[in-house]
Amino acid sequence: MRIVKTIAEIRDIVGTWRKSGLSVGLVPTMGYLHEGHQSLIEKADAQNDKVIVSVFVNPMQFGENEDFDSYPRDIERDSAVCQKSGGDVIFNPEISEMYGEYFSSFVNMTTLPEGLCGKSRPVHFKGVCTVVSKLFNIVCPDRAYFGQKDAQQLAIIKRMVSDLNFNIEIIGCPIIREEDGLAKSSRNTYLDEEERKAAVVLSRSLSIGREIIENGEKDAEKVIHAIKEEILKEKLAKIDYVEIVDMDMLRPVKEINGSVLTAVAVYIGGTRLIDNFII
Ligand code: PAJ
Repeated sequence: MRIVKTIAEIRDIVGTWRKSGLSVGLVPTMGYLHEGHQSLIEKADAQNDKVIVSVFVNPMQFGENEDFDSYPRDIERDSAVCQKSGGDVIFNPEISEMYGEYFSSFVNMTTLPEGLCGKSRPVHFKGVCTVVSKLFNIVCPDRAYFGQKDAQQLAIIKRMVSDLNFNIEIIGCPIIREEDGLAKSSRNTYLDEEERKAAVVLSRSLSIGREIIENGEKDAEKVIHAIKEEILKEKLAKIDYVEIVDMDMLRPVKEINGSVLTAVAVYIGGTRLIDNFII
């Protein structure tokens, strides 16, 4: 697996591919690749001639008291996973390559980043939009792949691409889970044995919520209450939010009509985990 550190080199490689008429897929990641990332790379491989996987732990999207320093990193392992999944090149820049000394331009969005994860992570989506815009401009892919696991991020990227006229197709990919239902996440590595068992409460409570909606409940508050009640049974869990929002603007709904996103963020011990479903 070729690991490229510079923007110039990536542009050269993509330029050569383009001259041969090859299509390019981009899978942006922060590395420590798991089966969730793998599913994105495999989809990109199936839909494009060439696939670039970016591995960059983006400091701009972490708040001051968040886990930037402790975020797991292992580029050798990522390289093997990427190879196995059908990636062609890993783009793994240093921070200085992405953010020069005088860096001062940002991509900021109103409304969509304000609710859900944006409430407890106020700088997060500005960092995500900025780095993803840069990756889009560096790679100029035909398609880019994002997981439904980060539903708010996916909605924001789709909006950004539409608002700013990026000529890139955004492909959303389903959530990949562990056998017991826990959504795969690089942050699952923070959990000790007891916390790992407790973490299944996210998907379990969401399943209960889904069942209630499927049985005809329209009152969002009642569904939220049932999900919260299930989470609170778990001693190690602390709720950040449980929300049901519309798909266009991610605003809380009172009545469940049409497509809605039900999303939770829960601290298990010190680790903040998220999960969701769309119905
Ligand atoms: P990261 O958390 O590494 O995730 C990279 C991509 O993998 C995201 O699109 C995410 O939604 C997807 N993903 C993670 N877990 C998944 C799962 N269990 N099932 C399906 N897809 C999953 O998200 C980021 O990095 C960053 O914010 C990034 C977009 C790279 C910008 O820095």
